[in-house]
Amino acid sequence: MTAGAADLTGVDRLVDQLGGDLRGRRVLVRSDLNVPLDGQSVDGPTITDDGRIRASLPTWRHLLDAGARVVVCAHLGRPKGAPDERYSLRVVADHAADLLDDHELYFVPDTVGADARAAVERLDDGEVLLLENLRFDPGETSQDAGERGAFADALAALAVAYVGDGFGAVHRAHASVVELPDRLPHAAGDLVRAEVEVLERLTGDPERPYTVVLGGAKVSDKLGVIGNLLAKVDRLVIGGGMAFTFLAAQGHEVGKSILEADQIDAVRGFLADAAQRGIEIVLPVDVLAATAHSADASYDVVPADAIPADRMGLDIGPASGRLFAERLADARTIFWNGPMGVTEFPAFAEGTRVVGQAIADSAGFTVVGGGDSAAAVRDLGFPDDAFGHISTGGGASLEYLEGKTLPGLAALAR
Ligand code: 3PG
Repeated sequence: MTAGAADLTGVDRLVDQLGGDLRGRRVLVRSDLNVPLDGQSVDGPTITDDGRIRASLPTWRHLLDAGARVVVCAHLGRPKGAPDERYSLRVVADHAADLLDDHELYFVPDTVGADARAAVERLDDGEVLLLENLRFDPGETSQDAGERGAFADALAALAVAYVGDGFGAVHRAHASVVELPDRLPHAAGDLVRAEVEVLERLTGDPERPYTVVLGGAKVSDKLGVIGNLLAKVDRLVIGGGMAFTFLAAQGHEVGKSILEADQIDAVRGFLADAAQRGIEIVLPVDVLAATAHSADASYDVVPADAIPADRMGLDIGPASGRLFAERLADARTIFWNGPMGVTEFPAFAEGTRVVGQAIADSAGFTVVGGGDSAAAVRDLGFPDDAFGHISTGGGASLEYLEGKTLPGLAALAR
C-alpha cells in the first residue's frame, strides 16, 4: 500500500520545522513541468498545454510567501542523460515567469554545475530559480543507486530543505524524486497532497455507482489497473485503441485496428472476472472505420462487430458515444483516463468530446487522470472547472489506482 495524505508532512509543517521564517533560506522544489510541446513552430517549441505549470505555482507561492528563495528542479521529455536543446526548460521558464508576474523567476541552463551554484547564490528572498532539465544529467535516471545518490548529493547542496511536488513523476525511482528527500528536511507540496487526497477518495469508499472510463492506445499499459479496478468499480467503460483487444477477446474481427494479440487471453480473463463479480463492462457498439491512420482518411461508421478487414477503427462511433454517455449519467464517482479515439485528428476526436461532455455534465465527483487526458480535454475546449479534479499525473495516478507503492510518495513519507 502506498503512502496516504496523512503520512505526508505538508509545507506548513516544514516551514515550522525551519523556524517559521524562510527569509534567507533556499528550498528546492521538485515540480513536474513536463508539458506537451509543439516543436513545429519556426520560433522554437511552444507549450500546447500549460496545466502542469499552473498547477505547480501555488506551492512555489506558498514558499515565496514565507520569504523563501525557491529553487525549482524538473524534467522535460526524455533526453538521454546529456544536454539536448529540444528539451531545454527555458521555454517553460519564460512561460512560468509570465504567470508568476509578482515574483522574479530566473532560469539557469545548468543543473548542479558551477553556473547553477552561482545562480543559486545570487537568488534573493521571494525569488525563483528554475534549473535546467534534470534528465540532462545521467545521474537523474541512472539504474545505479550510487550514481543517483551522487546526483542527489549535488542537488541537496543547493538548498536547506526539499519539497516534493512533482506528482506526475512520483512513480519514477529517479534521483530528484527518491534519493533527494532522504538528504534534506522535506515535505510534500500542496499539489502532491491534493492529488493524493483525490486518489484516496477513489480508492477508499467512493460514492456509488463508481464508473471508470479507460481509453488510449494500449491495453498492456493498463492491465494492472484494470485487474485492480474490477474489485472496486461498478462499471468499466472501455474506448480508444485498447477497446479493439476487448472486441477481439469477444471473438470479433477488428480489421487493421490496433490490436495487442498477446493480451487477448488476459482480457478474456478480465471479462470472465467482471461477469462473475457482476461488473458491467461497456464496449463500443460502433466505430469510425478509416482507410488509413491519417487526419484526412475517409471513413464509415460500422458496427463494432463488423469492422471490414481493410479498415482501422480510429474513434468510437455515434451510437457508442450515446451509450457511454447513458452509462455515465447515473454515476456518483467517475475516473477517466485516456482518449476514445485519435484526438490529434479532428475528424476522430468526437468520441472523446462526447465522453468528456457526459463527464462534465455529471453531478457526481469526477476525476480526469493524466497528462495526456488533461491536455486532450483542454484541447477540446473544456474548462478545468467542468471536472471535479484534473490530475497532473497520468502514469502516477494509474499506478496509485493499481495499488502500487509509488517510490516518490514513499520517500516523502520517510
Ligand atoms: C509524465 O509525463 O507522465 C511525467 O512527467 C513522467 O514523465 P516520464 O513518463 O517521462 O517519466
